[in-house]
Amino acid sequence: MTPSRQRPTFESPAASSSVGKAVDRVDGPLKAAGSAKYAAEYDYPDLAYAALTYSTIPRGRIVDIDTHAAQGHPGVVSVITHLTAPEMTPIRRLNPLVPGSFTSGTLVNYLNTGQVHWNGQPVALVVAETLEAAQEAARLVHVTYEASPATVDFETERHKAEQKKSLVNTLMGGDAAVGDADAALKVAPVSVDRMYSTPYENHNAMELHATTAIWEGGRLTVHDNTQNIDWTRKHLAIKFGLKARDIRVIATYVGGGFGGKSSVWAVTVLAALAAQVTGRPVRMMLTREGVYRTVGARSPTSQRVALGAGHDGRLTALVHEGVSQIGRVGGLPEPVTAQSGHMYATPNIRLSVATVETDTLPNTFMRAPGEAVGSFALESAIDELATELDVDPIELRRRNEPERSPVDGKPFTRRDMDSVYARGEQLFGWGDRPSGQRAVRDGRWLVGTGMASAFYLPARVTADVSVRLNADGTVLVRCAFHEIGVGAATAQAQIAADALGVPFSAVTVEHGDSEQPVGPGAFASAQTASVAASILVACELLTRDLERVARRNGQGREVGAPGSPAAASAVLRRAGLTHLEVRTGSDTAMGRAVSQARLVGMILNDRRRFVRAATGAHFCEVRVDVDTGEVRVTRWLGVFDVGRVINPKLASSQLRGGIIMGLGAALFEEALVDPRTGRVMNAGMADYHVPVHADLPHIDIDYLDDPDPTTPLGLLGLGEVGITGVAAAVANAVFHATGVRVRDLPITLDQLLT
Ligand code: MOS
Repeated sequence: MTPSRQRPTFESPAASSSVGKAVDRVDGPLKAAGSAKYAAEYDYPDLAYAALTYSTIPRGRIVDIDTHAAQGHPGVVSVITHLTAPEMTPIRRLNPLVPGSFTSGTLVNYLNTGQVHWNGQPVALVVAETLEAAQEAARLVHVTYEASPATVDFETERHKAEQKKSLVNTLMGGDAAVGDADAALKVAPVSVDRMYSTPYENHNAMELHATTAIWEGGRLTVHDNTQNIDWTRKHLAIKFGLKARDIRVIATYVGGGFGGKSSVWAVTVLAALAAQVTGRPVRMMLTREGVYRTVGARSPTSQRVALGAGHDGRLTALVHEGVSQIGRVGGLPEPVTAQSGHMYATPNIRLSVATVETDTLPNTFMRAPGEAVGSFALESAIDELATELDVDPIELRRRNEPERSPVDGKPFTRRDMDSVYARGEQLFGWGDRPSGQRAVRDGRWLVGTGMASAFYLPARVTADVSVRLNADGTVLVRCAFHEIGVGAATAQAQIAADALGVPFSAVTVEHGDSEQPVGPGAFASAQTASVAASILVACELLTRDLERVARRNGQGREVGAPGSPAAASAVLRRAGLTHLEVRTGSDTAMGRAVSQARLVGMILNDRRRFVRAATGAHFCEVRVDVDTGEVRVTRWLGVFDVGRVINPKLASSQLRGGIIMGLGAALFEEALVDPRTGRVMNAGMADYHVPVHADLPHIDIDYLDDPDPTTPLGLLGLGEVGITGVAAAVANAVFHATGVRVRDLPITLDQLLT
């Protein structure tokens, strides 16, 4: 008898009865009823409201700050400036938990300095009895500055020679060279060598950044819509000189983040400061303008992609160079080359990323930082090469499909782009596509189709979880992960239900509170797989514990029978136990401690051994008004290889969200900076456009649904792959429709009126 037969099992036949099903999200009814509470919805007795005054110059120092009018405004409790704020400890990094967060300089220690580093930096904090009073008084703070020369315009700066190489390039794989790409390019029989640009894009999560802060005798509690609970706690601990355990961060529900809530921004720190200074609970919810002024977003980029090929369409050279903007007081390079070494078989590759420093708000993560905009350049260039070669763009990709990752020779954990392309061709009807441009007209509309590939490297990080099996057959999973709108708790409940062989309805998942075992950040498409890995370990240990108890009870046999929840209950009841609980992680304060070394080791080992990517391809139809240049996207299909799909309803929704965000980047989004003052001129959704329903086609999503052999349950993170390649697919379709190649996002009317 093998050991596994000896012990009773909770796996089959119930196994996989939940994973793979389109279960409705458990938070759906709460959200539909408006009873899911967000960070700015917690009421406390004596609650006060805070608002910010923003600097109006990009660089210089405050020589005088007159708070008299603000102090005198009815309802104002306190006006806090750098002259009055208590000292806080400076923070060196935006976010030390991920390698991309080594910044270009020490971050601004808000209200502990009279120096101004960007137009929009908070220079005063007003606390009042009402939100309206706080906002009005914030406008009454009068600041006199001594301005210094500032550099704020990326277009101007990127031509200067000050481009810097950074440590981050190495860490994030931005720079690489194989063979001699420049030499190979020179002698290539067919080549394209193009410049592409993408603009400064702003974060626009539906839920505005908000914090409600409460101090109780040296302990700080914040309701904060972070997507990174653990770092928020540590960041505040450093800032305010507290032990992490004296800080509680609660983020039960987060109304979208996309990377804009991965780091700690002024709102969180200054709400805590306001509560400390006034001794009252304080709520600060940024205005939409406040998000544009104080929360970083996607850097503008300028990119060169040069491809060389033989007449047979096989690539001989690939060069991808990117320049992005980084704030002088923090920010990170946009790793635009992240996908470029892994997608197409090429013997000669050169990738590089450089930054220019400007006196601007630190940029930050924004859905697929790097790939979202890097894929626009690469996937446009591939399409341009296909035109040069007069070969179908899918056929060109097929001819260059690599066996192993071209840039480092590592194997892919799984890769099946041939199936992705084949499904896309069939479902979209690609075969009917005329090969030339401007070939189809329907009344006023020029009609074209285009495609592009999608690629993202989901990360894996550690997560602590606890899993409790109660004698009534119910299960409680606890982990401080983030329900950021994607159905994370639902997916984890499905996973835990199958791992323990209980029905989905028996599992409750508690999340979003630093009192729970430490979870991962909701970033880098890492959360689902990272939490699932720990849940599976905990469930396995819990099952063994249960077997042990059963053996002590003399119950070994019947526990293995189908319908195990009942059997599990019987075991616990007979042993006189109310529950069994396992906790993974290094903290032994609660439950049983299990070393996480195994998981950490696995994560590091993964990176050394293989390339694990979520992939896909987008197919779209666009219509361009022949006279006005108006672009309408009229059909969309995304085919994805994201490993095993835990819940197709949630997964499709998330991939669709990525595509919609990509359509925003393709057609609308651009934060405009006044080159004289560095001020964002369209800081609000009236002037900065994101897609609305009227802009969107029906979006079809299809999967291979084939498990990855190296991840828990074979799932690959899918939060970010959806946006990659979208803008290129649109630009490629616009070219097909009109014959006009647009290389500068967004694709606006003026670029099509030729
Ligand atoms: Mo994502 S940009 O890692 O939240």
